[in-house]
Amino acid sequence: MSGVTFDQVTKRFGDVVAVDSMSLEIRDQEFMVLLGPSGCGKSTALRMIAGLETVSEGELRIGDTTVNDVEAKDRDIAMVFQSYALYPHMTVRDNVEVPLKTRSYDVDGDRRKLRKPERADRVAEAARILGLSDLLDRKPGALSGGQRQRVALARAIVRRPEVFLMDEPLSNLDAKLRAQTRVELVELHRQLRTTIIYVTHDQVEAMTMADRIAVMEAGRLQQVGAPRDVYARPANLFVARFIGSPPMNTVDGRVRVDGGRAHVEVGDGRLDVGPRTGVADGDAVVVGIRPEHLRIAEDGVTAHVRAIEWLGHERHVYCDVAGTPVIVRDTDPGEDHAAPGTDVRVQAAPDTVHLFDPSTTERID
Ligand SMILES: Nc1ncnc2c1ncn2[C@@H]1O[C@H](COP(=O)(O)OP(=O)(O)O)[C@@H](O)[C@H]1O
Ligand SMILES: [Mg+2]
Repeated sequence: MSGVTFDQVTKRFGDVVAVDSMSLEIRDQEFMVLLGPSGCGKSTALRMIAGLETVSEGELRIGDTTVNDVEAKDRDIAMVFQSYALYPHMTVRDNVEVPLKTRSYDVDGDRRKLRKPERADRVAEAARILGLSDLLDRKPGALSGGQRQRVALARAIVRRPEVFLMDEPLSNLDAKLRAQTRVELVELHRQLRTTIIYVTHDQVEAMTMADRIAVMEAGRLQQVGAPRDVYARPANLFVARFIGSPPMNTVDGRVRVDGGRAHVEVGDGRLDVGPRTGVADGDAVVVGIRPEHLRIAEDGVTAHVRAIEWLGHERHVYCDVAGTPVIVRDTDPGEDHAAPGTDVRVQAAPDTVHLFDPSTTERID
């Protein structure tokens, strides 16, 4: 088993810099999610690990081995894609067995092709782990989408690779099956104890499955951390707005410091942000508040209510604050009489207010 290290890795396609000087250490046995919008370089980063793209600059290591010049077939990794590409004329058993027939494996210190009973053992074990034991004689056409996805996973895990790479493997599943498969992947990781590097643009997948998330934008790594930490302390405005659903509200404001406490003026009101270092009286800032941390109150900042969504377990109040759209999310609306077309006031506890530098977009602590 091994971790994977990007050491200032850059990938260029002509003039396009797909991955820009990325440094990231993925630990052995870690479930790492590369998260970012379409086109940010996630697949390219993954394909470099697989050996499907060359590295333009920098060093890429699997374990202690620099793999820049190691061919894909000589890397001990298995990759699962969005499209499963199963062979339609072959049974599930034969589909899962394919990689065992085409490659050599390390067996008790020997590198050789597996014998038939060894292959059968591995197929049976993978089928058991993925709940496919009763489906081994079926053909892909007789399986549901979720079952096909599990066959693709089984075909990867029979190889017992050092590292699993997964590129948006749940994108073709419907919402319910995606939620279910998320849980299964987490369980699979716990059983296999193998490094998994998983690419997605879906922040819910990242938040729910990852040990750590690496957020990317435009080829650049923005922040790396455990889901809770990235959620609680986004490093910049991009991460703040990308993680969380509905996303973090961000509004322009101006800092006022009197005594030991700081306020931020937003529109016609002010928000107490408690004692703060890193800001001075008169500074322009971007104020960030998660929808669940905003509440409708007696005082605070004026918000014009535009629409209210009831979701059964919570309410989303869509407002306008100083010309910027803002969402309040609450589970216990009470009797605040918020109604579309009226003005209310919104408030947040000082320690839930994030501040960002409008010129650098970086978090201010
Ligand atoms: N083979 C290629 N040739 C040229 N440009 C590419 C190639 N593969 C990816 N790119 C470009 O590199 C950038 C990153 O792409 P990709 O890694 O596929 O992003 P993501 O997986 O995050 O959606 C995009 O601008 C994309 O157009
Ligand atoms: Mg991609």
